Amino acid sequence: MDDKLDENQMLEEIDQIIEKYITAGKILSKVREETAKQVTVGASLFEVARFSEDMIRELGGEPAFPINISCNEEAAHATPKKDDTQVFGEDMVKLDIGVHIDGYIADTAKTVDLSGNPELVEAAEAALEAAIKAIHAGINTAELGVIINDTITGFGYKPVANLTGHGLAQYMQHVPPSIPNIPIDKGVTLEVGQVVAIEPFATNGQGHVNEGASTEIYHIVGTRPIRAPAARALLKEIEAYQTLPFAKRWLNSKHLDFALLQLEKNGNISSYPVLKEENGALVSQAEHTVIVEEDGCTVTTR
Ligand code: CO
Repeated sequence: MDDKLDENQMLEEIDQIIEKYITAGKILSKVREETAKQVTVGASLFEVARFSEDMIRELGGEPAFPINISCNEEAAHATPKKDDTQVFGEDMVKLDIGVHIDGYIADTAKTVDLSGNPELVEAAEAALEAAIKAIHAGINTAELGVIINDTITGFGYKPVANLTGHGLAQYMQHVPPSIPNIPIDKGVTLEVGQVVAIEPFATNGQGHVNEGASTEIYHIVGTRPIRAPAARALLKEIEAYQTLPFAKRWLNSKHLDFALLQLEKNGNISSYPVLKEENGALVSQAEHTVIVEEDGCTVTTR
């Protein structure tokens, strides 16, 4: 086989991968907008989650992670429990949704404001748009941090310093480079073909999130053997999600709490606790996935 043929095959493979990223983004864009319409005062969080995740599958994708429905001071990683009865009040609601096709991920977020604070939502959206406008191969991620920070502070709010955007790879939802939401000393240079999610968070709180008590989302981190039958059965069940995050409410294994605890202790799974701003603060979020190009980018989730 000559070199030329190899090169053609490689280009074809890259085209197929890009196609999957684009398809995942198209599905997700539709799902995001339709899900946002379901978020009203009195609507059930569990039903909104089910609506969103069902629609992803109906359109030919798979959820890349459980829909995050985070309210008010919650910034990320909240998702309904099994038999969750919570309904929306006059909340600031962040929907963070992911779709994958054969592991190629689109990641997007939108804030639905039922709380009467539209400027906070605008701040995150404007920061995202400014970053997208600036992004191209060769830009340093530190420059994006400055742009996002300046846009959000221009609205009189703070960016959440310890949450960042991130790179995406097959079945990997968080890989380098991280995209800061604040100025940093030393970033990295973005390259053609990198797939990154940019996700500014704006807040009227302290600009820093901490881990809360509740956890509904996990992912596999190791395959070390485990003896307890319930834990072994659960490990078998969650294999389907590979390295992607999954929700407790998706699982059917018996003795679920015990099995999750065993797997976490044994180093098989790791949890994503809910991330929260200080009590009484509000957080907004906007996010798109982009493919970095020579003189700009393609937004897959537009
Ligand atoms: Co993301």
